[in-house]
Amino acid sequence: MRSEELSGKNIVLTGFMGTGKSSVGRRLAKKLGLKFVDTDDLITAKARMSVKEIFDQFGEPKFREIERDVVARVSGEKGLVIATGGGVVLDEGNMDNLQRTGIIICLTASPEDILARTGGRNERPLLNTDEREKKVRDMLEHRRAFYARADLSIDTSSLNQREVIEKILEYLNETTGN
Ligand code: S3P
Repeated sequence: MRSEELSGKNIVLTGFMGTGKSSVGRRLAKKLGLKFVDTDDLITAKARMSVKEIFDQFGEPKFREIERDVVARVSGEKGLVIATGGGVVLDEGNMDNLQRTGIIICLTASPEDILARTGGRNERPLLNTDEREKKVRDMLEHRRAFYARADLSIDTSSLNQREVIEKILEYLNETTGN
């Protein structure tokens, strides 16, 4: 598939923290010759603070407000690969915007994999708790229906990044009729 065939659409990666949205998105964009953006990066650039600093100083509602602005902005563009923060799906307006101009692909993973993949540096304020495992399981349960709002879901638990990208490309080839 050539990137021109997707030029009217964005490819949007949703999914829980630690499912590989940013790394997969960056590689996918390169492969398709498209521009890659990450909503968390756009938020931190706009606020000139890290995600953790925004949460610490202004709280989650402020972070979500900036996130909504950023999502509205990128949804108005074309031909992007967009990696979203794990909570973008919680806002219906975000999903309406993203779905209007994009193909939504949700990356999923088991709680065990998520815990292992997010266990390193403490940059995710929502997982900054002594009961990380319970928190991850509760959030996954609460968000299940929100993540279901996708054109395609890929369980990444037993796949490497190359295999995830292959699955995405297969799907894009099918849906763009090539
Ligand atoms: C969040 C996920 C994070 C970041 C913020 C909140 C969430 O992004 O937006 O910490 O609510 O799931 P990643 O999914 O890229 O870690």
